[in-house]
Amino acid sequence: MQGSLRGNAGPRIRHLADEGAPYETLSIDKLTPIIGAEVGGIDLSQPLSNRQQDEVHRALAENSVIFFRDQHITPDQHVAFGRMFGDLHVHPAAPHEDGRPELMVIHADKDSPRANGEGWHTDVSCDVEPPMGSILYIKTCPPRGGDTLFASMYAAYEALSDRMKAYLEGMTAVHDGEQVYRGLYANYGVADKPKYPRAEHPVIRTHPVTGRKALYVNRGFTRFLVGVPRDESEGILRYLYEHMENPLFQCRFRWRANSIAFWDNRCVQHRAMWDYWPHTRSGNRVTVAGDKPY
Ligand code: SIN
Repeated sequence: MQGSLRGNAGPRIRHLADEGAPYETLSIDKLTPIIGAEVGGIDLSQPLSNRQQDEVHRALAENSVIFFRDQHITPDQHVAFGRMFGDLHVHPAAPHEDGRPELMVIHADKDSPRANGEGWHTDVSCDVEPPMGSILYIKTCPPRGGDTLFASMYAAYEALSDRMKAYLEGMTAVHDGEQVYRGLYANYGVADKPKYPRAEHPVIRTHPVTGRKALYVNRGFTRFLVGVPRDESEGILRYLYEHMENPLFQCRFRWRANSIAFWDNRCVQHRAMWDYWPHTRSGNRVTVAGDKPY
């Protein structure tokens, strides 16, 4: 389906998540028809049955980001939940809990110079094999604010014109961690590394589970499109960033203490709101390793 008017992207997006058989072990409460669902009927502090594990995988594939409320899990249970989805990724720069490199610290308070993830991004897309997914467990919430926004890159891709899709097909872009990470965590006493990751990825990637295409450039890490003049690259990237930030492709999660968000970095971008200063928002992120995008 191809719309002719700018700003008329909605009808062109497939509502894949509306299809499918009922779940046996989980309840699914969608935030929007496009992206995001709250998953109920599951206690992540208990071992999950094979059926529950399959249905969590399915819920993620169908909704791109899933949320769990009122979970009381230990750091070990958080890590074990992440391992159900693959090996764990260790962040190239961010601070982690003492002796636990797989438990990234997500924390902002009255003394913080910044908060994690304040701009639209895909986690660590500068890695040659960027993370498949991220599982954020927030234990301390501000009285108001601190929401996280998520945007479907399937929807952003599907809403592009056929001409733009054809232009981007087969194109790659360079993603670089250098400007993002150097000096970023100095306030935590984290020393800089000699080098940060850099990688070239397809601008349109195919999701290995769903087979759907997703736009894979982001303001955080993407530096330029390969094979076109720099001014053209800047113009196209600027357009793509504005396009993918259309609220039609988004959901917004309002945290409560002891909530978990699990997003699929292969088809989702996110942005955290730091609108709660001087209050504290705090938790840990476990990140699941991924494959080379294609
Ligand atoms: C991040 O992992 O980018 C931070 C997200 C958040 O704090 O909501």
